[in-house]
Amino acid sequence: MVNVAHTLENLHHESRSFRPHAAFAAHANATSYEYKKAGVDRLQYWREAALRLAWRQPFTEILDWSDAPVARWFHDGTLNACDNAVDRHVREGRGDRVAFHFVGEPGDTETLTYSDIHERVQKAANGLVALGLGKGDRVAIYLPQIPEAVVAMLACARIGAIHSVVFGGFSAESLRQRIDDAEAKLVITADGGNRRGAHLALKPLVDEALASHGEGTAHPEPCASVEHVLVVRRTGQETAWTEGRDVWWHDAVDPQPAEHEPEWVEAEHPLFILYTSGTTGTPKGLFHTTGGYLTGAAHTHRIVFDLKPDDVYWCTADVGWITGHSYIVYGPMINGATQVLYEGTPNTPHEGRWWEIVEQFKVTILYTAPTAIRTFMKWGEAIPQQFDLSSLRLLGSVGEPINPEAWMWYRRVIGGDRCPIVDTWWQTETGAIMISPLPGVTATKPGSAMTAMPGVCVDVVDDAGRPVPNGEGGYLVITEPWPSMLRGIWGNRHRYVSTYWNHFDGMYFAGDGAKKDVDGDLWLLGRVDDVMNVSGHRLTTTEIEHSLVAHPWVAEAAVVGASDEVTGQAVVAFVIVRGDAHGVPEDGDEVAAALREHVRHQIGSLAKPRTILVVSEVPKTRSGKIMRRLLRDVAEDRPTGDVTTLADPSVMDAIRTGLEAGTGD
Ligand code: WT7
Repeated sequence: MVNVAHTLENLHHESRSFRPHAAFAAHANATSYEYKKAGVDRLQYWREAALRLAWRQPFTEILDWSDAPVARWFHDGTLNACDNAVDRHVREGRGDRVAFHFVGEPGDTETLTYSDIHERVQKAANGLVALGLGKGDRVAIYLPQIPEAVVAMLACARIGAIHSVVFGGFSAESLRQRIDDAEAKLVITADGGNRRGAHLALKPLVDEALASHGEGTAHPEPCASVEHVLVVRRTGQETAWTEGRDVWWHDAVDPQPAEHEPEWVEAEHPLFILYTSGTTGTPKGLFHTTGGYLTGAAHTHRIVFDLKPDDVYWCTADVGWITGHSYIVYGPMINGATQVLYEGTPNTPHEGRWWEIVEQFKVTILYTAPTAIRTFMKWGEAIPQQFDLSSLRLLGSVGEPINPEAWMWYRRVIGGDRCPIVDTWWQTETGAIMISPLPGVTATKPGSAMTAMPGVCVDVVDDAGRPVPNGEGGYLVITEPWPSMLRGIWGNRHRYVSTYWNHFDGMYFAGDGAKKDVDGDLWLLGRVDDVMNVSGHRLTTTEIEHSLVAHPWVAEAAVVGASDEVTGQAVVAFVIVRGDAHGVPEDGDEVAAALREHVRHQIGSLAKPRTILVVSEVPKTRSGKIMRRLLRDVAEDRPTGDVTTLADPSVMDAIRTGLEAGTGD
């Protein structure tokens, strides 16, 4: 862990505070009574939240913590996630409500009601059963942001299969790792998707992932667990076909009967696995179970986003991330929300695309990431101002700390100074929002996520695990179990315990630094480990380093997350080229370009370094540990900090001189 003190110094006292407008507060779903209720009896509070779900068999026990740190919530109840997200609305007369206004990047749109989804999801469930899938089987989903992605997830949940969604920006190699780790029996994919006006191929990457990668590679054998690949036709691209393995969605799903009885599962039945970067090289397969996760997602969605029946809610995340799981698929659908689902990028075909969508569908609630807001700031406020954004009434932020400038811009330019902003802190691990203002209750400060959600116990502690007083910073911890907490790392209880529970006795360690201000409000300060946050996506320095050294030109690599005006952090790599390597270009820029492409191919485009600097050495301690702090100084163009613990203090001078001489990118 690194010291968070340097970040703390940069934090000024914030005197601005925005109280909810009286008109908003008067109709808000949540009042200060939430905090009171949760404070009086936390478990009872969660019991009531859980009772809003539709249970097949009611639960009697709220929390069983006897196997800590693996929790069991509501464990003797049974339910089905898809029944809660879809069937229930049809059953209770809300079938005609629009579930999704889908907007494809090329401009195609489709409106889907809850009844439409009900029909599709039953056909898909029957299709999965016909392919031999059942309760407990794992299904990898590698799809663009199209309605079938939502239907596929819910169909898995419907039959009790466990989905593992892999973001479409990951490489074949990353997909293979995830398929193997979960031993998935089925992959659901598409021929391709639309990205920046072009067709992005997906099926060829699945073919590559499942094939043998050749002798001496990490995957000498073809993938053993996958029996079928179910392919949605989206772009109409030509695709290679493996007879007997590959099946078209329109052949396997569309002709199926639209009746399927959900599989009623125990509350602790795993709902999904989602891989996320850890501090070591291999991604962790975090898994969530049904009853507690759904309780957390639906409850927080209702009280943080203040959802009402006539709202049009748009969460801009991809369903491949936890934000899409909790705040597109499960939370909002359980609450019967009408949503926008958009396939593409914010600047295709023009930089006003999002605002055009807000205007067209009269979006009332927008949930997005600081990196997007900063991008729009860069493009200029004249662009959103060309559109009618007056339908908006609530704005949300997630993924990384939001800087006060971006917060203020979001409030003024997008929210017309009338919309409350909820800055929501949470993680793949937490399943649902843990820290956030309540929009009708909390007076907000630009840049602060403010306070723990009702029923959630967080603290900021020092190295010894002691709570810090107001005005001081330390490590963010969660001190009591919560319903939507991860239940573990797939197949690796030991790693679960050591990653999250061994730092501070009996407390969940989130990996983030935080500060309590003088009023006790919380400010998130970013990761304190080797995890980077690039555009709200989690990446590990070591994962990218491993990828770089796997290239024949590279002798050694050190990766840091350098601060970046738009993406929050950016990947900067320092590489030492092998003296004996053949065919290495003279020009450092060419080396950098080839290595960036290599990382994209190995991990995915999101991990591509912004900058690669060719250097002659990297700074290390006497015990051989790379001193990333010093490399960050170089990457961020600051004077070099304390070098006394370096094995060879002259290394930093050599790096600086080398870079000035122009060997870098
Ligand atoms: C990490 C979790 C859960 C949403 C998407 C990211 C950072 C997330 C905030 C916020 C400051 C934030 C933290 C956290 N983070 N939201 N509002 N303020 N930091 O999920 O990939 O699991 O990453 O994102 O560092 O640990 P994730």
